[in-house]
Amino acid sequence: MRAYFDHAATSPMPLVVRKAFFDALGTVGNPASQHADGQAARDVLESAREIIARTLHVTSAEVVFTSGGTEAINLALKGLFWARNSGADRRPVILVADGEHHATIDTVEWLVAHAGAEAEWLPLNSDGVLLPEVLEAAITKHGVERIALATVLWANNEIGTIQPVSSLNQICERHGIPLHIDAVSALGHIDISAVHPAALSLSAHKIGGPVSSGALILGRKWQVVPLIHGGSQQRARSGTQDAAAATAFATALELAYQDLDRKHARLQQIQQRLITAIREIDGTAVLRGPKPGEMRLASNVHFTFPGCQGDSLLFLLDMAGVSVSTGSACTAGVAEVSHVMTAIGLDDVSAAGALRFTFSPDTTDTEIEMLLTALPQAILQARRAGITAV
Ligand SMILES: Cc1ncc(COP(=O)(O)O)c(C=O)c1O
Repeated sequence: MRAYFDHAATSPMPLVVRKAFFDALGTVGNPASQHADGQAARDVLESAREIIARTLHVTSAEVVFTSGGTEAINLALKGLFWARNSGADRRPVILVADGEHHATIDTVEWLVAHAGAEAEWLPLNSDGVLLPEVLEAAITKHGVERIALATVLWANNEIGTIQPVSSLNQICERHGIPLHIDAVSALGHIDISAVHPAALSLSAHKIGGPVSSGALILGRKWQVVPLIHGGSQQRARSGTQDAAAATAFATALELAYQDLDRKHARLQQIQQRLITAIREIDGTAVLRGPKPGEMRLASNVHFTFPGCQGDSLLFLLDMAGVSVSTGSACTAGVAEVSHVMTAIGLDDVSAAGALRFTFSPDTTDTEIEMLLTALPQAILQARRAGITAV
């Protein structure tokens, strides 16, 4: 038996989602075909789109299915940037928060290198929060007419910080600047249906849906230049649509938001138990990100362990049957200091011992005990090995 504390990397697919996925795989027909089989596939696809739209309080026309969060982010950022810089329009500036996921960072850097964009990186405070006044000041600095778009991460995937997205969106709306929000790690954990930015990126596999399935929620009044050209099956994306994946995504989404209060209470209980126990195990360990409460995902605990290399801890815990992460799965495997740690003001030595524990309401007490039993020895051994990569 293993203990899984890496739900932010990917979350296991519940049985009910697997069943819906499997049943939908039996649907014959291309949703774009005119015959009855095509019609049947279209019904399956559109009812999934409808469920997602209803859950997020948007219209079906605003749901653009993609191959996951990374594609949704690329479509939002490149698509909005190109659309806002077409014809005689020239709006080079992208306002981007520090500590974003690499899907955002690398896309913005690509736009800077290849499309004449100018990135303005907005600093976070020590809890990882982008303060609304920082966004306001950046808009004043560049002038509304030069700004193509702004982008922020709803909930930080490493330290769990929940941004004040409602205020940030209001500021952008007031200035007529399209805001993209990466809601990948917020989806399913907090209610995200009240904030309607220009574009919102989602991924299915973080909430128990299939990998390579996601969506961009694109507000009706905003246009993007598509990344993928072809049969124009969707408003901003071509390619035959995957009715089965959409069904599994919609089922996972409905399930995630069922009984949210009870699940949230269970997550808070696990979070508090882990924080208390880890502090007892190692009095020098430092909780990173906001304290538990409204500003932090209840499914996230993140500590730095002084004198330890995060990768050593990860390896030692893995040997003991416990899966954890040093941060984003997308950069794991490479012993580098997390850019999120740097963004909240840590030096390389303090940042080296970062470890993230992410869990679900279904995480069992046995899993928690496995982690807490293995951790003291892992810290001891990792500390003995020391810090190597800085
Ligand atoms: C915050 C965040 N944004 C975007 C992504 C990318 O999503 P996907 O894996 O669906 O491409 C991830 C996945 O690690 C993520 O955590």
